[in-house]
Amino acid sequence: MDRLDKILANLGYGTRKEIKSIIKNGEIKINGAVVKDNSVKINPYECSIEISGENVDYKKYIYILMNKPCGVVSATFDNFDETVIDILEPKYQSFKPFPVGRLDKDTRGLLIITNDGKLNHRLISPRSHVDKVYYAEIDRPLNESDVDKFGKGIVLKDGYKCMSAALHIMESTQDGSRAEVTVQEGKFHQVKKMFNSLGKNVVYLRRIRFGPIKLEDSLEEGEYRELSKEEIESIKKI
Ligand code: URA
Repeated sequence: MDRLDKILANLGYGTRKEIKSIIKNGEIKINGAVVKDNSVKINPYECSIEISGENVDYKKYIYILMNKPCGVVSATFDNFDETVIDILEPKYQSFKPFPVGRLDKDTRGLLIITNDGKLNHRLISPRSHVDKVYYAEIDRPLNESDVDKFGKGIVLKDGYKCMSAALHIMESTQDGSRAEVTVQEGKFHQVKKMFNSLGKNVVYLRRIRFGPIKLEDSLEEGEYRELSKEEIESIKKI
């Protein structure tokens, strides 16, 4: 049970003050009856809420899939740069969401954004072994010995030994190469550091899969959508 004005404010229908006046105006119906008391407590899962004749679809959590653009930071707030939360519509910002893990400022691609703290913890834990797949462009050629090193666990320049990762070479020339990399860890600059330790540099990085969730081609950089029911169920099973 929660206060009606708080529930509607959390859903992004206005400030507590604005909602108070909407309620006073008799614009809200609970189970079909007008309610004029803003302090009334309801269980939003068990009753129908209408605002000016429109049904309110109540939910506590949101789950968003964003194709993160280059130049935007994976944070809820930043003093200098635009964040992934800044580019969401206010109706999503009102849920106070945050990104699940981080992509570097210059990394593009699949980012899950939610306000479900429990799920976030599970998804970012290395013990969950969630596959994260990246499309990477590298400034040098790649070869089978690199594939082998990724499989055995790359040792970073600081001495940290990475978990086994899969490197799939798509194209390799003297001028550079293209590959898909699957890692289960999510350390800071993980993929870039793995290539760096082989004396190569990542020049373009895009995440294309996170566990069962794939980034579709139709979602342009900077666009986002809510995850489907099936997708939410699939990540909750992780
Ligand atoms: N690895 C990186 O180096 N950067 C990212 O943004 C994600 C994985």
